[in-house]
Amino acid sequence: TRTIKLAVIPGDGIGPEVVEQANRVLDAVLDGGDAVLERTEFRLGAERYLDTGDTLPEAEHAAIAEHEAILFGAVGGVPGDPRLTDANIERGLLLKLRFDFDHYANVRPCTLFPGVASTLANPGDVDFVVVREGTEGPYAGNGGTLRPGTPAEVATEVSVNTAFGIERVVRHAFETAARRPRKKLTWVHKTNVLVHAGAVWQRIVRAVSAEYPEIAVDYMHVDAATIFMVQDPARFDVIVTDNLFGDILTDLAGAIGGGIGLAASGNINPDRTFPSMFEPVHGSAPDIAGKQQADPTAAILSAALMLDHLGLGAEGDRVRDAVRADLAGRGAAKRSTAEIGDAVIGRLAPRDAGAHGDAGAHGD
Ligand code: NAD
Ligand code: IPM
Ligand code: MN
Repeated sequence: TRTIKLAVIPGDGIGPEVVEQANRVLDAVLDGGDAVLERTEFRLGAERYLDTGDTLPEAEHAAIAEHEAILFGAVGGVPGDPRLTDANIERGLLLKLRFDFDHYANVRPCTLFPGVASTLANPGDVDFVVVREGTEGPYAGNGGTLRPGTPAEVATEVSVNTAFGIERVVRHAFETAARRPRKKLTWVHKTNVLVHAGAVWQRIVRAVSAEYPEIAVDYMHVDAATIFMVQDPARFDVIVTDNLFGDILTDLAGAIGGGIGLAASGNINPDRTFPSMFEPVHGSAPDIAGKQQADPTAAILSAALMLDHLGLGAEGDRVRDAVRADLAGRGAAKRSTAEIGDAVIGRLAPRDAGAHGDAGAHGD
């Protein structure tokens, strides 16, 4: 038996509700197999901060690092809550985990499953993955303000782009494309304006591309990429881009792929020096929290990405197949968070019966 130490951070709002269902699905899909999860739950987020003033205490940071993977719900309070302006839960907790654990490949698949309504009238066959750089760019936090609070204030946000950081995420994107049947990579930037960072991205994409002659590479400015993503999303296979462009493009991708309640992500440390972290793209949704109205599918699909990362790709496929079957059979009837969890568990194929056998199509 393989024991996998899993850190669970349910977080705030709908976070605990969707993570509960993801955990139930994980237990069901692993039942009868070789792997068992040994979970440690960490109570972190806006609620904890409001209670105790803690964001991410050092001891918990160190304890989380001792796990093989992290399952994360969502954090954050009600936008505009004045008690939270200094807390910076987003930077002090979520981004801190992504940076400290070197989650340089923020992997966000966008698949429009059969039977799911897209925001688009004619989306076509949508199946792409965005590899968003996760540790630098405008998110690095460099910058500052001069003459704060005055009419002469000057605020800067300095984007940090290292050749090392770009090359490692670009390599990961090429590797991802090489494992997919269409073997296409689109790199997205804004090289016509952001000339310094753009030149480094361009040089590195060209150099790495020479090692992958089988992969067709094209480039788009990010503004044009939003046009193509709406008009012809089926053209994309793998997209690689910087941290901020990737943030924005993946909310758009979420809408195209059937809604934010379905959008999954993995914050991957491909070197496996630190635990990778799996979380839905959505936030804590204070407007529907505590009502069992949240769709747990994004959290469940994030758990499937975690299974892939842990070398349990057949189990990941079984979860995705169960979600696919549930989505295909979804009528208009509203279901609770737990009812969707029940339905996905009910659709899980028995061990070995449901695998596609295309083990090369996933993993990282
Ligand atoms: P949000 O994603 O929480 O909610 C946006 C809208 O989508 C809301 O109407 C919400 O009800 C809906 N929604 C989100 N997830 C859903 C689900 N699973 N099922 C059904 N509907 C769903 O974004 P927001 O309102 O801008 O942010 C709320 C808080 O979450 C803020 O504090 C923000 O900083 C934080 N946030 C956290 C993360 C994270 O933890 N990764 C990501 C984004 C936002
Ligand atoms: C996301 C979120 C985060 C981001 C925020 C909450 C820091 O929007 O995961 O996409 O900007 O990366
Ligand atoms: Mn985002």
